[in-house]
Amino acid sequence: MIFEESNNIPDILKISSISEEDNNLNLRPKQLSEYVGQDMIVETLKIAIEAALQRKEPLDHILFNGPPGLGKTTLAHIIANEMGTKIITSSGPALEKGGDLMGILTHMEKGDVFFIDEIHRLPKVVEEFLYSAMEDFAVDFIFDKGVHARTHRYRLEPFTLIGATTRAGLLSSPLRERFGITRDLDFYNDKDLMRIIKRSAAILDVILDNDGAYEIARRSRGTPRVANRLLKRVRDYAQVRAQGKITRDVAMEALALEGVDEHGLGETDRKLLKIIILNYKGGPVGIEALASTLQLETDVLLDVVEPYLLKTGFIIRTSHGRKASEKAYVHLKEEFKEPDSTGLFGSIKHKR
Ligand SMILES: Nc1ncnc2c1ncn2[C@@H]1O[C@H](COP(=O)(O)OP(=O)(O)O)[C@@H](O)[C@H]1O
Ligand SMILES: [Mg+2]
Repeated sequence: MIFEESNNIPDILKISSISEEDNNLNLRPKQLSEYVGQDMIVETLKIAIEAALQRKEPLDHILFNGPPGLGKTTLAHIIANEMGTKIITSSGPALEKGGDLMGILTHMEKGDVFFIDEIHRLPKVVEEFLYSAMEDFAVDFIFDKGVHARTHRYRLEPFTLIGATTRAGLLSSPLRERFGITRDLDFYNDKDLMRIIKRSAAILDVILDNDGAYEIARRSRGTPRVANRLLKRVRDYAQVRAQGKITRDVAMEALALEGVDEHGLGETDRKLLKIIILNYKGGPVGIEALASTLQLETDVLLDVVEPYLLKTGFIIRTSHGRKASEKAYVHLKEEFKEPDSTGLFGSIKHKR
């Protein structure tokens, strides 16, 4: 996966490694009926799946766009499951050559789902093979070069391509246009996150009351993957310190230890706000400058850290860069009750 190798990603946001996904396999919904939230998307998929099954045809190609941890990979697996087909998974960076793609496509059976994660990172040469594969279920392979060049057209079994991306904007338009269904996943509300947390707690055999679930939900950055991770940390805490029961107080104590505040912001989020406010007088500051001050890759900042802060209005995007909002000033002021030596937090409102 994209960020796996970098070490400077805040723990709470870390894109799960394969082993964590394995651990989570039983938490991952297997049917649309178990998939919480994203109601419009679920409804679209239900209709598309039922129609395709009735016609005994493969499903249209589908593109899912949205920040990490919102359930794109989960949906791809659910779709294959509901269609009763196999799923073959790969990712943009893993498909280096046209031959890699050919190997996969020529082995697929009718109706199979081919899932490409991080499809925006697909090399151009591979992407071009996909065009005819998606449109005509055929690929043209070129043998030899120059005057001896010959092409051979391979017929493929009709299949369904499901792409997932954190940045649909980076997809070329010919690729984007070949998807029959494109959907943006949005952050989850507290109510849906509570349902996910309660479902996971039942699977993990954890005792959790309503207030405990709410406390975890509202600190989960609108993200099911974060919700499940926090639940596990709170479970540990409850087991060792609170006779195994997760209440509001237990959740609050455990999450304070994790450095997660009541808005779900972690160390990195607060550091980012602090840098904009203190180093850049509230902004605007360019994304590259912010990334280097935070010692994060720009992509991580753009894909993982920033979307939730924009969504919740802690930062504002302007044509000159990012600005801290009033809400960010108020929040940080609460964080730093001690008068700041710079005096900035004393007269915070006037500094903007
Ligand atoms: N709608 C949902 N309902 C219940 N659990 C979910 C939902 N979406 C995601 N999850 C949980 O969150 C985890 C991360 O989801 P995933 O599909 O891997 O996200 P993405 O591929 O978008 O990064 C999954 O393992 C699953 O347990
Ligand atoms: Mg994924």
